[in-house]
Amino acid sequence: MEEKKLYQLLHHLTIWIKVLTLGIIGSSLLLIGYSLGIYPIDPQQVSGTALSADRAARISTGSMWQPPLLSSLPPNREGDLIRYGHELIAHTAVYLGPKGKVRQISNGMNCQNCHLKAGTVPYGNNYGLVASKYPAFRNRSGTIEGFGKRVNDCIERSLNGQPLDPESKEMKAMVAYMKWVGKDVTKDNENEGFGLIDLPLPEQAADPVKGKAVYQAYCSRCHGDNGEGILAENGLEYTYPPLFGENSYNTGAGLYRLSRFAAFVKANMPYGVTFDNPFLTDEEAWNVAAYVNSMPRPEKDLSMDWPDLSKKPFDHPFGPYTDSFPEIQHKYGPFGPLISANK
Ligand code: HEC
Ligand code: HEC
Repeated sequence: MEEKKLYQLLHHLTIWIKVLTLGIIGSSLLLIGYSLGIYPIDPQQVSGTALSADRAARISTGSMWQPPLLSSLPPNREGDLIRYGHELIAHTAVYLGPKGKVRQISNGMNCQNCHLKAGTVPYGNNYGLVASKYPAFRNRSGTIEGFGKRVNDCIERSLNGQPLDPESKEMKAMVAYMKWVGKDVTKDNENEGFGLIDLPLPEQAADPVKGKAVYQAYCSRCHGDNGEGILAENGLEYTYPPLFGENSYNTGAGLYRLSRFAAFVKANMPYGVTFDNPFLTDEEAWNVAAYVNSMPRPEKDLSMDWPDLSKKPFDHPFGPYTDSFPEIQHKYGPFGPLISANK
């Protein structure tokens, strides 16, 4: 009897030793992988980062916007259309990219590359507020724009592509999805977390040279030394999307304005940070924005934009302007004098 107990004990011990050794080997491999910049887990699959106490407190007071859950969609035709819209936003290039299944009209990026988790992340350029805003008068075009026109803006600029037929199933599905994401949001709601969170403007001009060092330290391991990104295994979309070069957003895109880029990156990059737990300093965010947007990318004819010059944003990098400051100052700053001059 005694012998049997001893044997069982030894048996359990060996199992535990095996489990522990495997665990230690496994985590060391993960650590080595991370330090070499190799990610065994597809970052797009990692869901949710830990909430900081501050953010958790704000959410519990109910002020933080919460997106609806996909799993709450009904199993009917309307639900199907919204689910298809979600799929198109998350994997745009699979359907509409250079080798798209449905049409070949865009550059290979996904909407979700910039509207994180299909536009549901607080200050991750989400779609919470869009449905309540459109149709709306927009200063960039000087016209009243419907939802479809706004989507085509991102396709023609951020995805450097050709507009989608407003009557196509794909446009209807994407719009249905974004309307559903914002279905509980009214125009005058007092929630937080929509779109992007603005950074304080820097006193100095943003510096592309300092930004290059930031890029090489914290961005190139995923986005590539030449900003080219890394294609996913399916060869259709990106695991790490391009930041510059011919496959990136064009000069008419929102991210080409430094304030938009800096706001997006501060709250969301390197991938995994959140607005309330950022990694970059404000200065690093402005400088890396300056570096990335000083590199080559596709150009768009913008001659029809901003028909009322007085409505041009301060950081729009192309003249003419109502003030006499040069394009380079509108692009990189210092922005303070431009804003005072246009008051
Ligand atoms: C390269 C980055 C990028 C990509 C890719 C992209 N967008 Fe955008 N999008 C932006 C930025 C930046 C804004 C403007 C945010 C701001 O000014 O606050 C924006 C704004 C929008 C808005 C208006 C939001 C609002 O609240 O007014 C909609 C709608 C939109 N995008 C839809 C899409 C769709 C649909 C796709 C894919 C077909 C897409 N975007 C792809 C960067 C991108
Ligand atoms: C760990 C990998 C990783 C690092 C490091 C990283 N990113 Fe990203 N980045 C991503 C991923 C993944 C996406 C797309 C998210 C998605 O599709 O869900 C992305 C998207 C972006 C986008 C929007 C899409 C585009 O291509 O224009 C910008 C801008 C961006 N990153 C800038 C940066 C900057 C600047 C840094 C350095 C400060 C950085 N990233 C560091 C993984 C990374």
